[in-house]
Amino acid sequence: MLTRRQFLQLGAAGGAALVLPLERAVQAFASGPSTPQFAAAFKRLPVLRPTSTDATTDYYNLALSPANAVILPGKNTPVWAYNGLFPGPTIKAKANRRVVVTQTNKLATNASTHLHGAHVAPSSDGHPTDVFGPGQSKVYTYPNDQLASTLWYHDHTAHATSRNVYMGLAGAYLIRDAVEAALGLPGGAYDITCIIQDRTFNADGSLSFVDSANAVLGNTVLVNGKPWPFLAVSGRKYRFRFVNGSNSREYELALSSNKSLNQIASDGGLLAQTFVTPSIRLSPGERAEVVIDFAQYPAGTKIVLENLKGTATDGTDSIMRFDVGSPVSDTSKLPTTLRSITKMTTAAVTRTFALSFDSTRRLWVINGKPFDPNRIDVKPKLDAPEIWKITNSSGMAHPFHIHLSMFQILDRTKSGVVSKPGPGESGWKDTVRIDPGETVRFITKFTGFKGRYVYHCHNLAHEDHDMMAQMEVV
Ligand code: C2O
Ligand code: CU
Ligand code: CU
Repeated sequence: MLTRRQFLQLGAAGGAALVLPLERAVQAFASGPSTPQFAAAFKRLPVLRPTSTDATTDYYNLALSPANAVILPGKNTPVWAYNGLFPGPTIKAKANRRVVVTQTNKLATNASTHLHGAHVAPSSDGHPTDVFGPGQSKVYTYPNDQLASTLWYHDHTAHATSRNVYMGLAGAYLIRDAVEAALGLPGGAYDITCIIQDRTFNADGSLSFVDSANAVLGNTVLVNGKPWPFLAVSGRKYRFRFVNGSNSREYELALSSNKSLNQIASDGGLLAQTFVTPSIRLSPGERAEVVIDFAQYPAGTKIVLENLKGTATDGTDSIMRFDVGSPVSDTSKLPTTLRSITKMTTAAVTRTFALSFDSTRRLWVINGKPFDPNRIDVKPKLDAPEIWKITNSSGMAHPFHIHLSMFQILDRTKSGVVSKPGPGESGWKDTVRIDPGETVRFITKFTGFKGRYVYHCHNLAHEDHDMMAQMEVV
């Protein structure tokens, strides 16, 4: 098999040297990464400034509009963006201090912005039918009455989420609190959010979105909108917040140095204890935070953040690269004990959910039903703990996500074998991967707000077709 470079050299040597039949040569060309890896500089996500602040609240504006992003060298990619940025700007919030975001839709299509992982009223949750159309604005209020965590906002329009997110409607939202601040973790320039998204591009640089009920997979791994970027790091500790913002792709993060990752947080914030692990699985919607100490590597070391679930043929087995520079002084800490998490254990209510494919209707369903915004599927009581038992009888994994509240995973059962969640999955979660043939039980409690929210598969292809249902908290 030719490498991309060999193929280009062959081409440059003239037609006579091109001994392969054209189709095979094209295949060889297409089998490598779509654009050079580790050629683009890592981009830090810009932080959005409030338009005003008062004693209780920070106010922000976001405009959703068409924009041009430079993703591939020398090409423009038309995207749909928050404030013209792909991905959108990062909002930094403080626990228990309100954020109000006024969003204006300058797109030619409906939008509904959901803050994934947020504890919010139904009117600010970005329900799939609570859309604001072209020329309209909507005000979203986020109380941030929750733990420090890495959340992300993204479009949630019914049956258009997969396309709208693919086109660029996603961004990060960070909540900080005093418990986290007291730990002395790497901060400031050493606290870096990485939104991982795979995309496929047409020859002219435009995004190639092909709607699918099964999976929307790209052949190019973007981090913060750059293909397989490289990041120059100093020899010291860094905190990375990884967000899987991909439509359908699951990643398994690992370092090419074969050193372990120090996982400190999951979807809902800090773990109880730092978890030292060789790799971390991250399905769409999930977040994981790690601390990497680059002081252990000599200057000049290059370490690839690998995806153990990817393939070498298209390069999706790599995500980004860290290029280690000289050591610098470092007063940050990586504590073993992070935050106390009270285990929820008992609930009066257990609900069961079956995830499957309806082959007659060609739709993904929950308890046999496709999404219907006019149907309420479950009515949890406010403040009453519930156990949700979800069984996946299909051949594909489903990242199951609930709105309003975080949950704690109780166990996974497969082929009759019950296992406790690993340390990386023992903190607060809002999305859990359920593998084929597996049953997952989690415990949760819906607090603070009554009303309608959705729960769904976070493979956006499945969500749109039609693996989503509705609860009304009463
Ligand atoms: Cu990130 Cu209902 O979704
Ligand atoms: Cu969500
Ligand atoms: Cu699914």
